[in-house]
This record gives sequence, C-alpha cells and structure tokens, in this order.
Amino acid sequence: MSNIHTSNLHVEKAASSKLKDVNFENLAFGKTFTDHMFMCDFVDGEWQQPKIVPYGAMPMEPSARVFHYGQAVFEGMKAYKDEHGDVFLFRPEENFERINKSCARLAMPEFPREFFFEGLETLVNLDKDWIQSGVGNSLYVRPFAIAIEPVIAAAPSQSYRFMIICSPVSPYYKGKVRVLIAEHFSRSADGGVGYAKAAGNYAAQFYPTKLAQEKGYQQIIWTDSNTHTLLEEAGTMNVFFRINDTLITAPTSDRILDGVTRKSVIQLAQDNGIDVEVRPIKVHEIVEASENGTLKEIFGAGTAAVISEISAFEYRDKVHEIADLGQNGYAAQLKQKMLHIQHNLSEDKHNWRYPVK
Ligand code: COI
Repeated sequence: MSNIHTSNLHVEKAASSKLKDVNFENLAFGKTFTDHMFMCDFVDGEWQQPKIVPYGAMPMEPSARVFHYGQAVFEGMKAYKDEHGDVFLFRPEENFERINKSCARLAMPEFPREFFFEGLETLVNLDKDWIQSGVGNSLYVRPFAIAIEPVIAAAPSQSYRFMIICSPVSPYYKGKVRVLIAEHFSRSADGGVGYAKAAGNYAAQFYPTKLAQEKGYQQIIWTDSNTHTLLEEAGTMNVFFRINDTLITAPTSDRILDGVTRKSVIQLAQDNGIDVEVRPIKVHEIVEASENGTLKEIFGAGTAAVISEISAFEYRDKVHEIADLGQNGYAAQLKQKMLHIQHNLSEDKHNWRYPVK
C-alpha cells in the first residue's frame, strides 16, 4: 500500500486491484464496486480529515442512529470515459447542492464544497480504469451520508460519516418499463421529504413496488397524496408525457425530486424546438389522451435510468399500451443527445461536462 497526502485528503491505495475479476459484459446494477472509497467523519461539530481507503466493510456500532431512525441521504451521479480515455462527470455541482439540501432537511450537517470535489475527483481518477468507454457504459458514483453516533435516543446524531463509493454500470432498466399508477399508497406528502434524496423515501416504496411487480410492472408512477389525481414521479425517475408534440412534466415541489436528468431533458427538448410544459398533469388527462390516440410517449428520466421508455401503464385495472416509436420518439432522440454530451461526442453548450483531471 502507498500513502499520498494532498492538501486535505489522505489516500491509502489498495494493495491490488479487483478489476481483473470483473465481467463488464454482464454487470448487474450496483453489485460491483471499485477498489477505493472516500470517507470523512463529522465529530465534535467539525468535519475531520477526509480520506480515500481501499473499498471494504467498516465497523459500526449497532446503536448507530442510522440503523434506528434512518438519518441517511444519498446522491447518484455518473462518470464517463470518451474514446481518448478522458473522464467526465455530468453536472456534479447539482448533486453537491442537492445532497446538502437533503442533509439540511434531515437535520444533518452540510458537507464542505472543497472536500466534496477533491474527494470526488481524486476517487474517480484513482479508479478510472474501471470506466469503460463507449455509449451506455459508465461509473455510477454514489455519495451518501449517515448518522453514526451510537445513541438510540430519537434525536439528530452528533456524528456523521460522508462517503463516496463507485460501481461500474450498464443501463438500469434493460428494455421498456411498464408502470402502475398509484391510487392508494403515497411516496411523499406536502411538507414531507419527497424532494430530498432521503434513504427512507426509497425504503417506503419497496412494498408497494413489490406488489406492482407481482402484477408485472417494474415501477409505480406516484400520484399526489391528497387526491391521487396528479401524476408526480416514478421513484427512481422523473416522468415525462408526450401528448401530440408537447412534452409535459410535473413541476418540482416538496413531494418531487428535482432531478438532474429531468432538468437536462427539459433544456435539451427546448434547445431542439420541442414545446415543453412544466405543469400539474391529471391522471385523467393521460387516460383520455391514451384513449383518443394523442398520448404518444411516456418516459422516465434519472441518473441511473438515463431515459427509459414506458411501454404501458395500468390505472384502475385498465392497461393502456403505448405504441413503440423507436428511434423517432422524443425519448430515443433526447437520450441520444444526452448520452452524446455525457460521452464527449457532441458540443456541450451548457457546460454540463466536468472534466476529471
Ligand atoms: C439515481 O438515478 O441515481 C437514483 O437515485 C436511482 C437509484 C435509486 C437507483
């Protein structure tokens, strides 16, 4: 092992790499991790010296508050390699800002910008051999923060750990996605934590999603908890509806994640002359559009999912199939434009690419 000290960061390199054991042709999402991880503890009211160490298990007391009260937030971002071997992140500033909004909502301390970016870049650079070039391949980067104080009183922790781990991935959804529109369960509520990437938001979806999966649907499109009449998001993705030639997506709110891919899709669509409406969308509007033939597409947008076409939705026991527009669909066209920017294959007029040096 060799040790490197940068200004703030202590790096302990892994003695050997696990890379040779990885089959990149057959990657299950999020099951394989690179050689290193970043960590930084918050103790006595201060973030301590950050470090990068070999990826592996870490001791933690069973009384750590995260295990009892779910004081945990995370982010999802990706690193890409172009054909020359240069590595890029996509809009990491957005993830940095959002994890700190999530931290604030869960009464967790915000993480300092210079620690985040130095840790992120050093880690991705150290493990860059794990990134395969080629559209569709990427390194999923998972920053997260957890409450580690060993106290089970129900109160915010006094100590935290901020970490970043990395996992080489291929697309999250293989093929098209079928969804169920929620009528009973809710993902989030006014005044709640729906806009934050709080770990508990995801745990709470697992049971209703399991019921949906038993009926043949991969995901649920959540509706507003008050009336179940407005379409919101799909939990791992924001959702877009195309009626005739207009793309519609719900406005962000307390209840909806302000997705980085969502805002990039809106911008790319506008750049390409597509009419975009950001407004509340009634379930009945989509059902009616499906019945009168004006509903052309539904797709999800998220970091893991990129842009995933939705081929059918079920509402009140009726299944609505959506015709496949293939490469002519907005989903396919916007996905290609997004991937080309991410992989340094096209102009990046909004400066979304962030070179990792
Ligand atoms: C992401 O797209 O990064 C997400 O957060 C989805 C994840 C839960 C797989």
